Amino acid sequence: EGSLNRAAMNGSKFVREFKEEKEREKKEKEKELRISRAKSKDSHDPLNNSRSEAVHDSKTESVISDWKSAQASQNVQYGKRTNLSIKEQRETLPVYAMRSELVNAVKENQFVVIVGETGSGKTTQIVQYLSEEGFNKGPDGSKKIIGCTQPRRVAAESVAKRVSEEVGCNLGEEVGYTIRFEDRTSPATKIKYMTDGMLQREALNDPYMSRYSVIMLDEAHERTIATDVLFALLKKATVKNPDLKIIVTSATLDSDKFSKYFNNCPVIKIPGRTFPVEILYTREPEMDYLAAALDSVMQIHISEPQGDILVFLTGQEEIDTGCEALFERMKVLGDTVPELIILPVYSALPSEMQSRIFEPTPVGSRKVILATNIAETSITIDGIYYVVDPGFVKLNAYDSKLGMDSLIVSPISQAQANQRSGRAGRTGPGKCYRLYTETAYKNEMLPNSIPEIQRQNLSLTILMLKAMGINDLLNFEFMDPPPANTMLTALQDLYTLSALDDDGFLTELGRKMADFPMEPALAKTLITSAEFDCSEEILNIVAMLSVQTVFYRPKDKSNLADQRKARFHSPQGDHLTFLNVYRAWTLNNYSKEWCKDNFIQERSMRRAHEVRKQLMTIMRRYKHPIVSCGSDLVRVRRALCAGYFKNSAKRDVQEGYKTVAEQTPVYLHPSSSLFGKNPEFVLYHTLLLTTKEYMHCVTIIDSKWLAELAPKFFRVADPTKLNDQKRNQKIEPLFDKFAKSQDSWRLSAQN
Ligand code: CDP
Ligand code: MG
Repeated sequence: EGSLNRAAMNGSKFVREFKEEKEREKKEKEKELRISRAKSKDSHDPLNNSRSEAVHDSKTESVISDWKSAQASQNVQYGKRTNLSIKEQRETLPVYAMRSELVNAVKENQFVVIVGETGSGKTTQIVQYLSEEGFNKGPDGSKKIIGCTQPRRVAAESVAKRVSEEVGCNLGEEVGYTIRFEDRTSPATKIKYMTDGMLQREALNDPYMSRYSVIMLDEAHERTIATDVLFALLKKATVKNPDLKIIVTSATLDSDKFSKYFNNCPVIKIPGRTFPVEILYTREPEMDYLAAALDSVMQIHISEPQGDILVFLTGQEEIDTGCEALFERMKVLGDTVPELIILPVYSALPSEMQSRIFEPTPVGSRKVILATNIAETSITIDGIYYVVDPGFVKLNAYDSKLGMDSLIVSPISQAQANQRSGRAGRTGPGKCYRLYTETAYKNEMLPNSIPEIQRQNLSLTILMLKAMGINDLLNFEFMDPPPANTMLTALQDLYTLSALDDDGFLTELGRKMADFPMEPALAKTLITSAEFDCSEEILNIVAMLSVQTVFYRPKDKSNLADQRKARFHSPQGDHLTFLNVYRAWTLNNYSKEWCKDNFIQERSMRRAHEVRKQLMTIMRRYKHPIVSCGSDLVRVRRALCAGYFKNSAKRDVQEGYKTVAEQTPVYLHPSSSLFGKNPEFVLYHTLLLTTKEYMHCVTIIDSKWLAELAPKFFRVADPTKLNDQKRNQKIEPLFDKFAKSQDSWRLSAQN
């Protein structure tokens, strides 16, 4: 077991310690405040206070003057790009010189693979060239769309915004985008950016992609499940639709594999315009990568010449903590160092914040961007000279043994490491600080990342393929087929949800579930809620589940925030707490003030409202009645149980809970309204793996519902065959059903 795996398992202690430290500080401050209030007011010494603020360090000062003079000599180069007109900016991109070659290749071939460094202009330019060259008309003169997929919603949104500016139109007119629960396109749309998941969904109703003249599968090196599925779907579509052109773009050099898959199609390489990047490794493995990363940032800021810094972290919590810690360190240094603009980037970030990262850094200051791997290739930020790479990424992995998805921090691949360091060499010669040893890079990192399709839960994907009439999954032309085991687990999941019948064919319910762009369990909950006459309530809850954070808890008012939150708590659990919040917000006319008073993120509520509208449209389109159950909220919990029975857990005799299905130990999160109440049976929405396996969003259920609502998964146990523990439980998962029927699972259709 290598140093990287050990470090990944350790996680970042920094986040935990930083929070504990803050908590301690807060308590001490409160204590001090009490003491000073108790003392007489005369003893207060304002002078003493201000003296302690000015922390000066002569060594730092001399470094700073170096920094400032270095900066002065580079001012001219800095900010130059932003003085260029949009036309000039477009013409300086490496892809511009390749324009006619690219356009001709697309004219002459059905498939083209394009490889080019990140930032060379692939995403923003190629579709514009094609549109300018008349690709928005089919051979028969009909109107066609040029589509471009992105693995991430943030990228689809920000790139569409940028291209609409370049084209000179309002976003949503000629240039638009579609992501889940948000469609900013119109009949005028000629260039459409979208997530790969959305295009996969379109294939349900339009398998031959008849609305499109060209589809560019962008960022193909990311190998998301949806892109992998689209490879096969689009290859099939071109047989029936010979006018359809497919472009596959990649930032890495795995182009031969793509070319071979697409009938040995031509590969066009866009010559890069990169500067050398000096790679620096640590001599010893780092114990805490976040702490090390922040130290590196400060060191660069204080001692290196100008240029922005990009730090790769694994997730939102780490990034937020990192930003705060940097901010505090800068506060201590005060005016002794140049300004450091600290910016977070992750996919849940609201779009107002996202656009800030593209704004040029003011002369005399430095920008540091703390990002997830989204900044590896999906987003290009100009002006980065320094990259800090701890070497980790958070991966969504499906653990077929536990039967659950979990996010785990894992070492990146060598290809990713190189991609990350490359970000430092776009504007000039740069430096990359790798916070791992060269030995770890060579011996512990895989050359390439494992495609998502080989490590994630496939139930949604398989449900969609079945709904497209693709039953022969064994002969479906995956570029890298998923392991048979993963497919089997997904089929079993769909079977227990009653989406597939005993022969593995789609049921009527399964077909309905495929209409919803969400995990099968959630789709089933929505459909069931219509039958249980509580779809009004479930719609609110599902909308709330789709947003990231609802409550906020400012450090200086955490007690008040907790009190306010407790007013919404439902004794039945967190799903109904969400319902209470949504209802109260509606009753208060969607008021901003009300959100503020109650420590609720107004932005999240607005987003939930939008999602709800979209869900309503789907419900209406497929004729699922929207009915309220009034105060009969048992119906709501039963509808949740119909979808999430697999996430049921029983209170454990020792401590915490154990999942009913696999007996995995899980715990109530302190933020749950059920914390400390410990009801016997619960179901949860997701599991969060931090220090423990925490159940997130938990609701009380009745164990009798399990056998009733999920007869294919649970059965009431035979009392004659029970041991003591089971007798208590009187319900057990139907594992033998799976064992018996494994060979009859229809991976391939008979007809
Ligand atoms: O796709 P590729 O990585 O090859 O490049 P791109 O995304 O088309 O970016 C080309 C240029 O457009 C870069 O210099 C970016 O800085 C700029 N761009 C931007 O200013 N704002 C965006 N939202 C996206 C790109
Ligand atoms: Mg791109």
